[in-house]
Amino acid sequence: MLSPTLRTTLNIMSTIRTQMNLAAANRLSTVHRHLSTTSQVNKIEKLTVFGAGLMGAGIAQVGAQSGLKVILSDVTDKALENGLNIISKSLSRVAKKKSPDDIEGFTSNILKNIETTTDAAKAVQDSDLVIEAIIESIKVKRDLFGFLDEKAKAECIFASNTSSLSVKEIAESCSNDRQARFAGLHFFNPVPAMKLVEIIKTPQTSTETFEALKEVTLRMNKSPVSCNDTPGFIVNRLLVPYLLEAIRMVERGDATPEDIDTAMELGAGYPMGPFKLLDFVGLDTTSYIAQGWREKAQSGEISKELVEPIGLLDKLVKEGKLGRKSGQGFYEYDNKK
Ligand code: CAA
Ligand code: NAD
Repeated sequence: MLSPTLRTTLNIMSTIRTQMNLAAANRLSTVHRHLSTTSQVNKIEKLTVFGAGLMGAGIAQVGAQSGLKVILSDVTDKALENGLNIISKSLSRVAKKKSPDDIEGFTSNILKNIETTTDAAKAVQDSDLVIEAIIESIKVKRDLFGFLDEKAKAECIFASNTSSLSVKEIAESCSNDRQARFAGLHFFNPVPAMKLVEIIKTPQTSTETFEALKEVTLRMNKSPVSCNDTPGFIVNRLLVPYLLEAIRMVERGDATPEDIDTAMELGAGYPMGPFKLLDFVGLDTTSYIAQGWREKAQSGEISKELVEPIGLLDKLVKEGKLGRKSGQGFYEYDNKK
């Protein structure tokens, strides 16, 4: 026979146990809910690309070629027209090899997978993956992603094609859940021809997001590699200091752009010398990369000497001589061809 005091104590303990179990169950269900919202990703079928310039056009093209439904978005109809032009020219090159008897049929079949719009909200409403390839400015990228976070589905993955900015800093414009579905996806120029894609995981990027991005880049027939969120990732951390040093050589009067290009093509086996490559990438893009890195140099993330300002680069950019895309950079181009 239990004493009344002992019975009361046992009753209290049983009530506490029930409440503790309920609290634990609630905690568990919150963790499950959180895990399912942070990790759930859909198979990627619908891709939205922001920026219809050199890179965005190429990414939209390889997406469409791999069977994805693509929406290409930019701020003006003129920019979208420029993007479609880049895609059509490139597709006819691809078609000459893949379908020489029906170049037009091949091209129009791929183009059917690409829609265009200047309405950013509409562009993402049904998307599984957003790849941003707009101007290399942290503010402009953060503004765009902050806006898109409210408009896209919760499961949609966001990726930036930034060349050099911190992916984590861009991702922080979005909610915590989206940051788990946010990564860097760095393609190379010209996208249809270059096989590499760097996938950049931030500390917040979920494993499911990383795996989904790996899978979709393989579907695009690319070879993905992974890198931490560090200035320039792998390729640009090595390539951009080399390009900047080549401009300094010309500024010092050591050699001409033509001779430096010949030297690196014939002496080092590079497919393009540094000045052809600078014009190909865009002098504005290279200048934005160097500017962004100068801020990182203050915190010691990259050495200061690598990114010292270069008068000749700044002068050309100021004059609108941006390389191939503007018709003049270190060399002149006939863009009507
Ligand atoms: N669209 C479709 N296919 C293209 C293409 C395009 N725009 N450009 C080239 N190709 C294809 C060609 O059809 C050809 O394919 P096949 O081998 O199957 O026939 C192949 O690419 C080679 O092209 P070409 O024979 O016409 O010319 P090439 O041999 O001179 O190569 C090149 C052209 C691939 C651009 C080569 O010059 C090269 O590799 N250049 C260096 C490019 C480079 O370094 N890019 C990285 C820049 S850095 C970057 O992108 C990162 C950043 O963040 C700034
Ligand atoms: P680009 O100048 O050719 O094109 C940029 C496009 O973005 C333009 O059409 C512009 O109208 C558009 N744009 C600007 N703000 C926009 C906005 N808010 N919404 C939608 N569109 C907007 O530039 P690019 O060379 O294609 O570079 C794009 C990105 O890719 C940059 O982050 C760059 O660092 C990176 N990248 C460039 C290269 C390269 O070789 N050029 C290679 C890899 C990565």
